[in-house]
Amino acid sequence: MAFLEISSVSKSFGAVKVLDDITLEIERGEFVVFVGPSGCGKSTLLRMITGLDSPNSGTVSIEGKVMNDIEPAKRGTAMVFQSYALYPHMSAYDNVSFGLRMAHTAKTLIRQRVDAAAAILRLDKLLHRRPRELSGGQKQRVAIGRAIVREPRVFLFDEPLSNLDAELRVQMRAELIELHRRLDVTMIYVTHDQIEAMTMADRMVVLNAGRMQQVGRPLDLYDDPDNRFVAGFVGSPRMNFLAGEVVGADATSTRLLHAGGTGPLTLPIGGLQGQLKVEIGVRPDHLRILADGEDPPPAAIAFTGRVTFVEELGNVTYVHIVLDDGTPIVVGAGRGPRIGTDDVRITAPVGHALLFAQDGCRLRGRNGTGK
Ligand SMILES: Nc1ncnc2c1ncn2[C@@H]1O[C@H](COP(=O)(O)OP(=O)(O)O)[C@@H](O)[C@H]1O
Ligand SMILES: [Mg+2]
Repeated sequence: MAFLEISSVSKSFGAVKVLDDITLEIERGEFVVFVGPSGCGKSTLLRMITGLDSPNSGTVSIEGKVMNDIEPAKRGTAMVFQSYALYPHMSAYDNVSFGLRMAHTAKTLIRQRVDAAAAILRLDKLLHRRPRELSGGQKQRVAIGRAIVREPRVFLFDEPLSNLDAELRVQMRAELIELHRRLDVTMIYVTHDQIEAMTMADRMVVLNAGRMQQVGRPLDLYDDPDNRFVAGFVGSPRMNFLAGEVVGADATSTRLLHAGGTGPLTLPIGGLQGQLKVEIGVRPDHLRILADGEDPPPAAIAFTGRVTFVEELGNVTYVHIVLDDGTPIVVGAGRGPRIGTDDVRITAPVGHALLFAQDGCRLRGRNGTGK
């Protein structure tokens, strides 16, 4: 039995299925991130866990007990919202302690818990201030403090950093990871930002259109996505996709033609059947522009395109290229000689090419080398 179990949870609003048969187990102490595009159902799934809304079918259990009929205040969960949701007329102290006061907690205990939370969050000197006298980051800390003093079994964060500027977001990310380490408690964190998810999660749960796409450690999802959606969503800049057509397949390899290709390509992915149209996925970092006169390495992917623009960021250069059939491609290059808007030849090792079927499923092949 896992600490928190979501079993076959579905939720519809009218005719729209917002969560479609979600099953997920979370262990005690894990930092799990729900990530996916806006509208994919992340907040709705959090609301099912905390009890602000209930599923049409399926169950949510914490420590073996079904929560569906338990009211939110009794679930041992605490939620932190993007909007902070602070009371403007109350001091930070009163905001942090509000839930405890409502529960008639003894004043000395309230004081102890607020002081402890304020020390962790570096709010000690700000407790007398009202929300309008606090910066965005400080307000978010007050909202987190309000969750901490309740000593929940599970913290639920719904895009808590989205209203902060980029620099503060990076800082708060580190602070939340540290908070998780110190409190050693289960945290579920929702974001639409895959970089936030990659940097914070023990495990990421990728959602799209109400369906769970894949669950795993960030780098496992990056290296070994189950489908085109995950492949395209995780990683920045995103994976390139080239249309391809299988022209031959045997037990150990697949031969195909592809957009921009200079000849048939053989990939070490065996046993594909009934797949004529496919897509090849290659990350920008695995592509390289060939120098003038340089031959592509043997058994590599090779194709041609035209440079449309170049982004030089100092540590990395992104070269935007368009293939004959209009497919846009990004190549990540080191700092090198200036690249003009010209025709270029591009290459990648075959071992870095992923194959996807037309329905988006990853084609790993029978020999399991499709990685
Ligand atoms: N109370 C509601 N009534 C009708 N539709 C809703 C309601 N809450 C959410 N939705 C819809 O459900 C979908 C998922 O919403 P949400 O869980 O908030 O997505 P996310 O948090 O991933 O952006 C959206 O299309 C949204 O418009
Ligand atoms: Mg949301």
